[in-house]
Amino acid sequence: MCGIVGYLGNEETSSILFESLKRLEYRGYDSFGFATIHDNKLWITKDKGKISDVVQIKLPGSIGISHTRWSTHGPPSKINAHPHTDCKNRIALVHNGIIANYLSLRNKLKERGHIFKSETDTEVLVHLIEEYYKPEDGVKLEDAVSSALNAVEGTYAITVISALEKKIVGARKESPLVLGIGNSCFYLGSDISSFLPYTNKTIPLDDFEMVVIEPESYKITDFRTGLLKDKKITKIEWNQKESSKEGFDHFMLKEIFEQPQILKIALNICEEEISKLAETIKEADNVYITATGTSLHAAMTSEYWFSKLAKLPVRVVDSSEFEEKAVLDEKTLVIGVTQSGETYDTLRAMNYAKKNNCKLASIVNIPSSTATRISDITILQGSGMEIGVAATKTFTTQLMILLRLALKLAKNNGETVSSPTMKNERCLLSKDVGDKISEIEEQLKNVPRYIEEALTQKEKIKSITEKYCINVKNFLYIGKGINYPTALEGALKFKEITYHHAEGMPAGFLKHGTISLISDDMYTIAFVPRDDRKILSNVEEIKSRGGKIIGIVSGTAKHFDETINVPRVSDIVSPLVFAPAYQLLAYYTAVALGRDIDQPRHLAKTVTVE
Ligand code: AGP
Repeated sequence: MCGIVGYLGNEETSSILFESLKRLEYRGYDSFGFATIHDNKLWITKDKGKISDVVQIKLPGSIGISHTRWSTHGPPSKINAHPHTDCKNRIALVHNGIIANYLSLRNKLKERGHIFKSETDTEVLVHLIEEYYKPEDGVKLEDAVSSALNAVEGTYAITVISALEKKIVGARKESPLVLGIGNSCFYLGSDISSFLPYTNKTIPLDDFEMVVIEPESYKITDFRTGLLKDKKITKIEWNQKESSKEGFDHFMLKEIFEQPQILKIALNICEEEISKLAETIKEADNVYITATGTSLHAAMTSEYWFSKLAKLPVRVVDSSEFEEKAVLDEKTLVIGVTQSGETYDTLRAMNYAKKNNCKLASIVNIPSSTATRISDITILQGSGMEIGVAATKTFTTQLMILLRLALKLAKNNGETVSSPTMKNERCLLSKDVGDKISEIEEQLKNVPRYIEEALTQKEKIKSITEKYCINVKNFLYIGKGINYPTALEGALKFKEITYHHAEGMPAGFLKHGTISLISDDMYTIAFVPRDDRKILSNVEEIKSRGGKIIGIVSGTAKHFDETINVPRVSDIVSPLVFAPAYQLLAYYTAVALGRDIDQPRHLAKTVTVE
């Protein structure tokens, strides 16, 4: 993961890099570092810890690079922090990704006399660049970088500077890097948010592209061939207010409370965009949705919507398993669901689909991210920047978009049948189903209001967490049918920010083994939509074994030790209204336990490594 920033211009670079790097801290926060050029010398500072805990960084010079790290090779430490430098202290480099063949390269470079200081895979890159770098013979930094990159295997976004040249070289393969174009200055960043307060003009780099930025110009080439690339500048519209907590204690809480507003935006995503993807789904012989983490849970929920409403079998596969599982051909549509648009596993699955000639679609929050650029069709979520590592508003937006798609397809089925020339009669919408769709559409419009109502439960949820969730360390989350993914997502939210064990599963599965765990140290959270009688039998099974249960209820059931009531809606819409309740349950438990809410340990928001 890791975040990278570079700046070349007329200002003092270290203060710009400092502010920009703080905006990338969601990508990794175990150590940080800066390198600038001044007086033909490199100036470097780095340390273990969070950049947001640092008051100021002051280095001379107006060309520099910086890095916030999420460690892969070598634990967090001052020595392992980036930038890494060559033996002669002329070159400094920061890297996001993994150099797969670093061990063999390291051994060869050691044999050639290079001295390694860190345990990182990254350090081989800077020594390899040093091997090729011969400024005295006219070999420039970018030439040495291309040669080095053509010798390494793995994934990378890098920025490199040399004390001998007034430039920054950046390049990428399977890790994100974007160029920002300002007034007489340039930026490089892992994403646009790093430089958005300074410029909204950007060029995202694609794989195998290298950019050289100099005081008056920039040049993008393919580093494998040296050929010049002609790339268009994109202007990004983004609201800067999003990077402030606006009075909330944490970004996560702010983002939970933003959901009514953000879902109104999702309801207004234009019908044409939804119809276009719905049509593409309809035309495909097979449809896969691939995603991971919270986005996978949104996709899994939609699997029920597509089958229940549109009678359409859609296969949902965790993107880290996709290559092992998917059977693809040119009539297959693969939809990637990814908030960031940069998750390594999801991009890999999407690229695999592309190689197999599938049509590619995506539902993505970050505009111009890699997923949007490799897709044939994209629906942009419009959730705004999500800074808390735990996904909240981006998840409910994904749900909203996927439900709109399923409803569109369900209605299309009805329209199909009303045309006598069409043969797809098994999809005829019966009056029952037709009425149900109108009811769901009506409820969907009201989801922002339902969520607002669910959020009014916050004090009650807080008191429940204080009574039940702080001293107990194990939780089962159970749901049935469409709320099985709700149980998975509730458990994931709880685990990632409280560090307590939580396990989501289908309610019916519990009695096939897991029920043996019910005890004073294993409580259950049950999701109960309005019509669900069956889950209440599972609840009774737990109660009769002395288990404590918190019910999150969209109806009137009262079988629990504690009940969190959310608005009464149909089963189909219930995953949306349950979300704020379990998000707040995780949030208040983590607050009471004194956890780092927005940057939980060991995690990063965008996982750009395998
Ligand atoms: C969820 O709270 C996590 N941040 C994580 O599971 C996340 O959903 C996953 O890494 C996928 O991210 P993406 O949506 O950006 O692809």
